[in-house]
Amino acid sequence: YTAELDMSDIEKGMYPHYMLKEIDEQPAVMRKIIQAYQNEQGKLEIEEGILTALNNADRLYIIAAGTSYHAGLVGKEYFEKIAGIPVEVHISSEFGYNMPLLSEKPLFMFITQSGETADSRQVLVKIKKLGHPTLTVTNVKGSTLSREADYTLLLHAGPEIAVASTKAYTAQIAVLALTAAVAAEKAGHPIDFDIVQELGIVANAVQAMVDSKEEMEKIARDFLSTTRNAFFIGRNLDFCVSMEGALKLKEISYIQAEGFAGGELKHGTIALIEDGTPIFALATQKAVSLNIRGNVKEVVARGANPCIIAMEGMEEEGDTLVLPKVHPLLTPLVSVIPLQLISYYAALHRDCDVDKPRNLAKSVTVE
Ligand code: AGP
Repeated sequence: YTAELDMSDIEKGMYPHYMLKEIDEQPAVMRKIIQAYQNEQGKLEIEEGILTALNNADRLYIIAAGTSYHAGLVGKEYFEKIAGIPVEVHISSEFGYNMPLLSEKPLFMFITQSGETADSRQVLVKIKKLGHPTLTVTNVKGSTLSREADYTLLLHAGPEIAVASTKAYTAQIAVLALTAAVAAEKAGHPIDFDIVQELGIVANAVQAMVDSKEEMEKIARDFLSTTRNAFFIGRNLDFCVSMEGALKLKEISYIQAEGFAGGELKHGTIALIEDGTPIFALATQKAVSLNIRGNVKEVVARGANPCIIAMEGMEEEGDTLVLPKVHPLLTPLVSVIPLQLISYYAALHRDCDVDKPRNLAKSVTVE
């Protein structure tokens, strides 16, 4: 019987798709990252050169594409709020090399699961010529962007086969959070929470999410069976995750989707809302909870079909999904999981090729 199985089936094990397997692996990856970045005494440890480069920098430029760019947007929050370093996040293909660098001592961080993305490598090559320090955050040891950068932070997520990135995205966010926390401690202003403990709580929350597949499949069926478009809205960290949710849905189900800042809809795009338009709204950030609820009311008044995903403690009557409570800065690690699964099931219901969506490659090595 084994002879009839081809290698891919064995690697997928009992999973119908690599994407589902990789979504399920996320709690274990979270724990693996915590372990990989702890020393024998259980203390978080980041390579000294990286900490020095971070704390010497007066501005951090994060350069990335696609899902990695969305992780970079979350990383901006961490390096600014936790490590106190000003950050600019740029889409690799849009980074203007001749733009005035607003700093004397920049550090360039390239976030790339594959470590082979041509758009990102082009920037790395030019930045190295300018003599600035470079750091690659990647899942592939020995990849081009890892070899060519001064420093590397590994994701320890294991091979990610599905074109749609899932575990690499959450691994990127976890590694960025840890790195910012260690840099802050090194700089003498340690964070006011135990990030190892909080990431452990996140891993349990992610497990609860991946164990709720039936609920996620029902949401996909209820909201996405017949629609031709969808919106994902949020504010602050929830806006970053909304963009990632939209990309997930688009790239595997081919449903037109947009991630939008909740407060921005009324400046034009709300004109697209029609009767039944599905709107996925993330509400995990207390400071803007009332605002995003107001944005949901605006779109519902125009006929939208709201799927409200709220963090425990902020949920209200009529919300579709409640996420287990985690530290406010780490909510993206949990809120993205339902969006990954809902996209997966929406694609399945449309008989799409989940692991190999049309026109897409796992690593975009052409510009
Ligand atoms: C994400 O699901 C896509 N596969 C794609 O946007 C990807 O994130 C992008 O091409 C960047 O790839 P990288 O992380 O390997 O650089």
